Amino acid sequence: MSELKTTFAGLELKNPFIVSSSNLTNSAEKNLAWEKAGAGAIVLKSLFEEQILWESSHIMSEEHPDAGDYLQGYLRAHYLDEYTKLIKDSKHACSIPVIASINCYTDQEWENFAAMIQDAGADAIELNLMAIQTGIRYEYGSFEQSHINILKHVAAKTNIPVIVKLGNNLTNPIALIDQLHANGAKAVVLFNRFYQTDIDIENLSYCSGQILSDGGELANALRWIGLASAAVPAISYAASGGVSTGTDIVKCLLAGASAVEICSALYKDGEKQIETMLKSVQDWMVRHQFKSIDSFRGKMQAKDLEKATVFERTQFLKYFGGKQ
Ligand SMILES: Cc1cc2nc3c(=O)[nH]c(=O)nc-3n(C[C@H](O)[C@H](O)[C@H](O)COP(=O)(O)O)c2cc1C
Repeated sequence: MSELKTTFAGLELKNPFIVSSSNLTNSAEKNLAWEKAGAGAIVLKSLFEEQILWESSHIMSEEHPDAGDYLQGYLRAHYLDEYTKLIKDSKHACSIPVIASINCYTDQEWENFAAMIQDAGADAIELNLMAIQTGIRYEYGSFEQSHINILKHVAAKTNIPVIVKLGNNLTNPIALIDQLHANGAKAVVLFNRFYQTDIDIENLSYCSGQILSDGGELANALRWIGLASAAVPAISYAASGGVSTGTDIVKCLLAGASAVEICSALYKDGEKQIETMLKSVQDWMVRHQFKSIDSFRGKMQAKDLEKATVFERTQFLKYFGGKQ
């Protein structure tokens, strides 16, 4: 029997299928159901920066500006209480690793929140650093530096593994991942999926594009995991964004991932997807006589990073150059 065990961010998982952070993981009952359906781990719905730092400013009245501090303190405590309860209840219900998630973009008080998350029993913390850079006088590299600063502060106050979920709007994810590793990150997730902008041409208004991903979006994670896992092998990788079949999981593992974080496929097809996809991975392993994930993980990593740009450019010319 081929083994699906894997190690991700120092956590021992019975298989590489992680239920990704979303409303699918916002209650202990749902998380227990994912465990029963066969998931290897879950990432809880994120605690958003706005929930604890911003919301009070919208409610604050101009006539009572002194209410601001009180309100902010109250909201912060409320959301943190709610979140620590979600961690405790999920840990109580589940035996698989429970990863907490903070979705942030400024270097605020994350070290204190991270310590509370650790005390509540989370097995790891995932930092989802989600923001687009629009400043006309943007200082190149400052966005990357903010990842490092936030990570440093969180890692200084915690001793559980810290995972960083990156957006796909980085010039050179490899250089950043190297620095994240040097500053204490145990794993990275490539990539978060941003809100999809669309335009309603009848009402001349902006609207949401496709909320759920499809398999066509996997290429970005495959490219960067294939390149980065060769350049920075000491950190572990999870793929996110468009993983929708067992074949996709095999591709991610071959590229160098230790796990996959899946959301859209579960929204579309429900929990039976876990068993179906893992069975397909196992069938492939049997066909190719791989007895463990470690025996083939990274087999399709980039062989020659120096030539990656030349490779990308020549493949583009080969496949797109002659297309009429
Ligand atoms: C409805 C919905 C809610 C999400 N909420 C979160 C969240 O709270 N925190 C987070 O890190 N990612 C969140 N995500 C992103 C997913 O975790 C995942 O990274 C993304 O959807 C790409 O994976 P997929 O192609 O398997 O859907 C959400 C995605 C969806 C569709």
